[in-house]
Amino acid sequence: MNEAAPTLELFDDREYVYKKFLPKINHIKTDFPPINEWDIPSTIKDLSYLTHSDYRYYGKFPSVVAGQLLEQYKPPTSKHYVLDNFCGSGTTLVEAKLRGIDSYGLDISWLSMIASNVKANVISTSEVRTCLSDLISWFENNKELYTAPDDNFVQKWFSNEAARDLKVIQTFIFNLPSSDVKDFLLVAYIGIVRRVSKAYDGEVRPHINKDKKQREVISAFSKKVSDMCVDHDLFNQSVNKETKAEAVLGDNLNLPERFNDKHCHLVISHPPYLNSFNYAPVFSLEFYWGDVFEEQYSQGNKKVYKQEMKAHPANESITEKYFNHLKKCYEETYKIQEKGAYLAVVIGDCTRKGELIPVVDKTIEIVESIGYSLHELNYRTTHYGLGKYAYKHRADYHGAHEEKRDGIIVFKK
Ligand SMILES: C[S@@+](CC[C@H](N)C(=O)[O-])C[C@H]1O[C@@H](n2cnc3c(N)ncnc32)[C@H](O)[C@@H]1O
Repeated sequence: MNEAAPTLELFDDREYVYKKFLPKINHIKTDFPPINEWDIPSTIKDLSYLTHSDYRYYGKFPSVVAGQLLEQYKPPTSKHYVLDNFCGSGTTLVEAKLRGIDSYGLDISWLSMIASNVKANVISTSEVRTCLSDLISWFENNKELYTAPDDNFVQKWFSNEAARDLKVIQTFIFNLPSSDVKDFLLVAYIGIVRRVSKAYDGEVRPHINKDKKQREVISAFSKKVSDMCVDHDLFNQSVNKETKAEAVLGDNLNLPERFNDKHCHLVISHPPYLNSFNYAPVFSLEFYWGDVFEEQYSQGNKKVYKQEMKAHPANESITEKYFNHLKKCYEETYKIQEKGAYLAVVIGDCTRKGELIPVVDKTIEIVESIGYSLHELNYRTTHYGLGKYAYKHRADYHGAHEEKRDGIIVFKK
């Protein structure tokens, strides 16, 4: 378990790892506002360097989308920062930290908040490894005292033994005092739930895989923690500890007072895609085991969830609310930004009953009505989204006009 930490000498130089997979940019229109195509041919594995692989988050964007935006719109002074107001699993925060840029994230989900903070911050892996050894000893000494939760959901998705073991690990982590090591272990714990369940590993929405071989929970957990430690050892050496990366729990329709300092140079914003998928069933296994932690991490403020942006199914009412949400949340970012600052919205078109909803165009119209002006329009391709696991409704730009476009729309205040 105490493998020697690999060193950065593995990489040609410090920048190699996060600059290697940046999009290949083709200029489609060069007069103002320019239109470009960002081609991202890399695989998910390529893009999961360093701590990006800590947490498998089904709605994340390729790390290089945030990376490319940060390359192009780097804050002018050290007082300035980047804000991701739909930060999800913290992709923007990791990319900003790697470049020495201060960043903040905001998300309505406590789990997103801790996943982002774990991924984007220097955490002592020796403390994590010590705590893991304590956990394993405690697990071995106490597991017989526990039983699997007795409900239909657990019986459907987990073997008796796996459910019992998940309960034991959950109890240990739950009783730890709050610290970044606790957060680290919790992210690893949530990260193995799907793997030790009866569901297919590779699918977005869980389905029972009758042929799945049961994995021992404690060894899956211990391996996950060890793998994360290896990535964190490299990450810790790649970044400056002093660079700020902080995700907070909150609603982007009501930005916390602290951002009202006019130092937000760039907002990177990646709302759930209209009609993409319903998050609740996708994360149901993780939330089953994660729910007891919600109170600890949201300081009892469960109400914040009520403002979660709904994006599926794209019926008339949800579509209307979706665009209203976009308008309100960019009115909020407009308030906190100074003239000359940027907003980059990563968003895609979708279809409803076979008909195109031009979300990219509609977003431009909404955001311009607030006072921002269109600065640059990029369409991206993500080849990995076209395979077996692609959604029927998903946006992806592959050249022809009638296809759904996945946009990275940059505005300037
Ligand atoms: C598409 S994901 C962002 C993924 C992120 N770019 C990444 O790479 O991990 C959208 C996120 O928006 C969050 N969200 C939804 N409604 C929100 C709201 N009102 N305020 C803040 N975050 C919200 C969801 O919890 C989800 O994590």
